[in-house]
Amino acid sequence: MLARSTVLKDSATLAGSLAAGSLAAGVAYATLIERNAFVVRETTMPVLTPGSSPLRVLHLSDFHMTPGQHRKQAWIRELAGWEPDLVINTGDNLAHPKAVPSVVQALSDLLAVPGLFVFGSNDYFGPQPKNPTNYIFRPSRRITGEPLPWQDLRAAFTERGWLDMTHMRREIEVKGQLIAVAGVDDPHLSRDRYETIAGPASPAANLTLGLTHAPYTRVLDRFAADGYQLVLAGHTHGGQLCLPFKGALVTNCDLDPSRAKGPSRWGATMQLHVSAGLGTSPYAPYRFCCRPEATLLTLVASPTGGGALGSRAGMSRPAVSAR
Ligand SMILES: [Fe+2]
Repeated sequence: MLARSTVLKDSATLAGSLAAGSLAAGVAYATLIERNAFVVRETTMPVLTPGSSPLRVLHLSDFHMTPGQHRKQAWIRELAGWEPDLVINTGDNLAHPKAVPSVVQALSDLLAVPGLFVFGSNDYFGPQPKNPTNYIFRPSRRITGEPLPWQDLRAAFTERGWLDMTHMRREIEVKGQLIAVAGVDDPHLSRDRYETIAGPASPAANLTLGLTHAPYTRVLDRFAADGYQLVLAGHTHGGQLCLPFKGALVTNCDLDPSRAKGPSRWGATMQLHVSAGLGTSPYAPYRFCCRPEATLLTLVASPTGGGALGSRAGMSRPAVSAR
């Protein structure tokens, strides 16, 4: 007969082996499968001025592209098939100094569609190796690497007609709708100078739209105070490592994790949409319960002129479809 201590020791060894095996399987899934399980999430947001016609807006963010990511590049290339009226790119396109051609080629057909963009920290600076646990335990710590050729990316975008909204206010017409838009430089690098775009949003517009890479609350509060109907942002990666049934644990900024991706209300009348983005840092190459995404936003008229969330009073469950 085996001694009781021997049985307990064997049970503990088995439990330890199972735990280690489960962890290894989870890491493999998050790194090899979910990180590449790109999805188009479709969401309808009632933000337009009453009487406006619907607008199809493709929200892209956080590619973190390297030249060798051919699967992601091919997937992005197919997004033109969704036939958006407007493309909005909220930054973090690059993760390699030679990735500009890969991004531009992936976006080739979409660059023929009206587009607006702001840049994020990972357009200006390359990624740096870091402790993977920092993502959870020190999420807002900024580590910047070598300078990236963001000027080349900006030139490629603007030559095709996309508009750089960094500290700019513009009024554009898309599909017969007047859009008053303003954007800031990346708050995550403390480059935001909201005072350069401050002032009431145009009351004549069908849509008043704010853009920022990182959805820091100081910027969202300023847009809300100026009467903007909608702000689009990226940066959070949707939490990147999420828990089933709970969702994001962190946002890598001061935004509440419950708003890490998708639509939510900010203040009395403004709505926020945060993209979970399509990439990760090469030094944190995993996603769990948080698929990489592009978002097709169908903006429709609000009976109240903005602020209503339709099916979503706090956070909704947006419809998701994959291609
Ligand atoms: Fe990012």
